[in-house]
Amino acid sequence: AAALFLAACGGGEGAEASGGSGSGSEGGEGRALRLALNQTEQHPSYLALDSFGQRLSEATDDRWSIEVFANETLGAQAEALQLVSSGAVDMAIVSGTQLENLDEDFVVFNLPTVFDSVEQQMSVVNDPDVVGDLYSSLESSENITVVGGFTQGTRSVYTTDGPVETPEDLAGKKMRVQESDLHLSMMEAMGGSPTPLAFGEVYTALQSGVIDGAENNEVSYFTQKHHEVAPFYSRTNHLVGLDYLIINTGVLSEMSEEDRAAFDEEWTAAHEEHTQLWTEATEQAIADAEAAGATFSEVDTDAFNAVLEPLVDEFLTTDSQRALYDAARGN
Ligand code: GCU
Repeated sequence: AAALFLAACGGGEGAEASGGSGSGSEGGEGRALRLALNQTEQHPSYLALDSFGQRLSEATDDRWSIEVFANETLGAQAEALQLVSSGAVDMAIVSGTQLENLDEDFVVFNLPTVFDSVEQQMSVVNDPDVVGDLYSSLESSENITVVGGFTQGTRSVYTTDGPVETPEDLAGKKMRVQESDLHLSMMEAMGGSPTPLAFGEVYTALQSGVIDGAENNEVSYFTQKHHEVAPFYSRTNHLVGLDYLIINTGVLSEMSEEDRAAFDEEWTAAHEEHTQLWTEATEQAIADAEAAGATFSEVDTDAFNAVLEPLVDEFLTTDSQRALYDAARGN
């Protein structure tokens, strides 16, 4: 018990030095990392992060734990990114589209054609040989370290009226996209009029008619209740999306070598658990959305592929982007 107490006090020093916000342990000496998430508590990302936190506490004798704030309560992703950079929040899950705005190399993994499957994506984005430099590239400028990736699964379009079969069907439709130049161009190429909006604003925008549709995976389509207001989900499968877990670099450097090793090990278990949960959650979301009246329909895949293909050459403009793209494609 005495050894545990001393160990807990060691963790407490770090918490004071960085203005830590409370504790995951009863003794009040551990450091609870505040993590911003824009998903609900039913989403696989919440579930996998919550168990990541529990295992981290156990593995570090409560010196480190994680408190996940779901539903954008700490802000939408653009704000969460700033808060992690300043250290006001310790960690966040942000979409790759957010990091594209800080370093152009992140564009590569946001391209429609870079990943063919969740399996390929996960093996690439958690391989230190491929992503080591990329994930530390924001440390000196932003004080942000990328820990690794969670899949967003395959994204497709959905609309408030009528299914979409070809790019022509999106003509004149205001479609919400994430705040990214690449995704604005992507939606234009797909035939729609892109409207960038934060995730949490999409439901109301669909409901009020400010937008006519959006694009996302089935899990977010259902957990955000978008199916209630945009019941036509058309399987463009235009992209396998990617989320990143980011952490304030200063906070990470406060961890002892032993605690950092535990953090890395439990993170590996967390993204593996997330990928497993993803398949089940996707099937469940489809069944639940259908039961609530949504329809899922097929599109002219060749027609969409033909308009998406040119984005690769348009957006890969540097050697380092090309090298990452080739590594991801196994070229
Ligand atoms: C997915 C992704 C989120 C992202 C959202 C969006 O749900 O997991 O990180 O914010 O798409 O479209 O904004």
